[in-house]
Amino acid sequence: MEKDFEPRIIAFCCNWCAYAGADMAGVSRLQMPSTFRIIRVMCTGRVDPLFILHAFVKGADGVIVAGCHPGDCHYISGNLKAKQRIEFLKGLLEQTGLSERLEMYYVSAGEGNKFQQMIHEFTERIRKLGPSPLRNIPVPEKGKNKRETLYNELLAIFRGLGIEEIKPWKPTEEQRIPGFGTPVYDPEKCVGCGACYMNCPEGVIMIEDVDGKRKIKHYHWSCVTCRTCEEVCPEDAIKVEEGFDLEAFLNKVVHEDVELPLIKCRICGRFFVSAPMVEKAKEKEVPLELLDVCPECRQKLVGEELVSIWRNM
Ligand code: FES
Repeated sequence: MEKDFEPRIIAFCCNWCAYAGADMAGVSRLQMPSTFRIIRVMCTGRVDPLFILHAFVKGADGVIVAGCHPGDCHYISGNLKAKQRIEFLKGLLEQTGLSERLEMYYVSAGEGNKFQQMIHEFTERIRKLGPSPLRNIPVPEKGKNKRETLYNELLAIFRGLGIEEIKPWKPTEEQRIPGFGTPVYDPEKCVGCGACYMNCPEGVIMIEDVDGKRKIKHYHWSCVTCRTCEEVCPEDAIKVEEGFDLEAFLNKVVHEDVELPLIKCRICGRFFVSAPMVEKAKEKEVPLELLDVCPECRQKLVGEELVSIWRNM
């Protein structure tokens, strides 16, 4: 361990309780090590997981999130949401060893002593762990959205620690935070109509027509659980499951969900529609001549018919 190591701790403190608790500790002249810097937030619910990752990437040896006691949050449940995010991050960072460097505390405005104790305890913990292995790693670029920034920061952390093989990790019920999900298809029901693909605002779903087969795939990476795919699917064949898959996220894994046979256009011979979709259309008594001709050839047919009608007038 580094000689004379003085931890650098970032403490996100809510304005109404923990920050006031720190004030109380100061006013009461309670002695504390000068190892921490406070970032005041109106509520711990304001602390985005990205703030914490960014603190680590920038070389913080430890991060504290301190807020009101459960039931006392001035914004009803900000502290509970923060707790859930901390649990998520702790699980996410377990294989990096950083989860021990992160903690959430509850400190009320009158608990100056508790604030002092928190700083002493956490400083001691970090002293034992030593300096963060992420000191001096290159700070990643900000992404064009929060998801990309999360990806960049996580990748920088794993690479910075020299972790080549990322172990699979998925949050438990208690660790799960909203905003991450994955579309799950029922291959028995999916007819490959492409409504999910055409309506997904995040480009999560992809359709590939290759060698007479329609393949439906998705990126776990970008699903924000908006559930548009669920709403537009005419066959009720898709459900979005909430959750996060670290391995799939960091490796930008593409999941193959459904594979369906395609049918050729009787005129040009091009594959253009999935067989189950044609079957469905037959059930709905759509005229057969509309089912085996691709849209381009159908357009030509209609044009030719119109010309012949016009000539015979
Ligand atoms: Fe203190 Fe929400 S106001 S945690």
